[in-house]
Amino acid sequence: MKEFESLGLRIRNDRLLVLDQTLLPDREVWLDGGDPGAMAEHIRELRVRGAPLIGVAAVMSVAWFAEHGASEGDVRAAAARLRAARPTAVNLMAAIDRVLDAAASFFDADALVAEAEAIAAEDVALCEGMAAHGGALLEDGDGVLTHCNTGGLATVGVGTALGVVRRAAESGKRLHVYVDETRPLLQGARLTTWELERYGIPYTLITDSMAPILMRAGRVQRVLVGADRIARNGDVANKVGTYAVAVAAHHHGIPFHPVAPWTTVDLRCADGAAIPIEERPADEVRGVRGSFGAVRWSPGGSAVYNPAFDVTPAVLVTALVLDRAVLTSSELRSGGLGRLAVAAPVRAS
Ligand code: MRU
Repeated sequence: MKEFESLGLRIRNDRLLVLDQTLLPDREVWLDGGDPGAMAEHIRELRVRGAPLIGVAAVMSVAWFAEHGASEGDVRAAAARLRAARPTAVNLMAAIDRVLDAAASFFDADALVAEAEAIAAEDVALCEGMAAHGGALLEDGDGVLTHCNTGGLATVGVGTALGVVRRAAESGKRLHVYVDETRPLLQGARLTTWELERYGIPYTLITDSMAPILMRAGRVQRVLVGADRIARNGDVANKVGTYAVAVAAHHHGIPFHPVAPWTTVDLRCADGAAIPIEERPADEVRGVRGSFGAVRWSPGGSAVYNPAFDVTPAVLVTALVLDRAVLTSSELRSGGLGRLAVAAPVRAS
């Protein structure tokens, strides 16, 4: 496979490598991901995470495996394992189906590799499309609240919501980012801050529950978040806590924008109730794990509810920022995504 370099995924000297995001911001450790079994484990454990990135990482791994002589049966079994690694982010299943389709007729490993490389290149272009559409919404001096991590660590391009912020800042707009820490796995506190430090964009880290105070104080002009799956009616599944942010933004009259590539839209889900929501291990809520080790602060047997994502209804979405368009809440609720699929090619071009 061709050499490839992004913030969290690379191919160097015929090795497919992933940056272990569970060790950030303290340690930058690259792990082998060429073996699809290992990659599935990296994805399940969130060493590799973010909807677009897990789609690209999974197909890169399948392609690497095929290129290194795996049989069609082994490739298909590996693809099935990867497909099941995380259930909510539709980018994962869609990307895997796409490379298998490309190789389908007489199992052409070269075609599979070419399709995986095309998916990665497209992700970069989709990010730039979102940045262009979303950037137009931001004004010099804005305070932007964001949740989870949606930057170069969650895609192989500039990012979704954080990509919008980054490109707008590079164009000269002075922005201040309020970063939700994002309980329970702290993607905001560990990863978004790490990225913003690298880009030199000013930010303030807050706990998730502090966001409404800043909104009431007039410090937040827009909320930009990512998405893991968007239903046909515009309901948006994203990192748990997003729904609470949307409710608070609505109460304070602050525009709320999910930012996502077309690869995150799932027209087969009529509404948010049809989106499968991943539930994760109880210990993630009983305490915390990181480069420092593990700490538990609640009784070992405490009952826990740990959905990794929640669904924000389309009525709370001021406008959805896609790579190819911006759709308002009423456009979403009146079938705008379906119309866009007909008007524009469903596959990223
Ligand atoms: O569980 P994670 O860290 O993979 O969740 C990530 C998110 O919820 C992001 O907002 C989403 O994947 C879109 S960002 C490109």
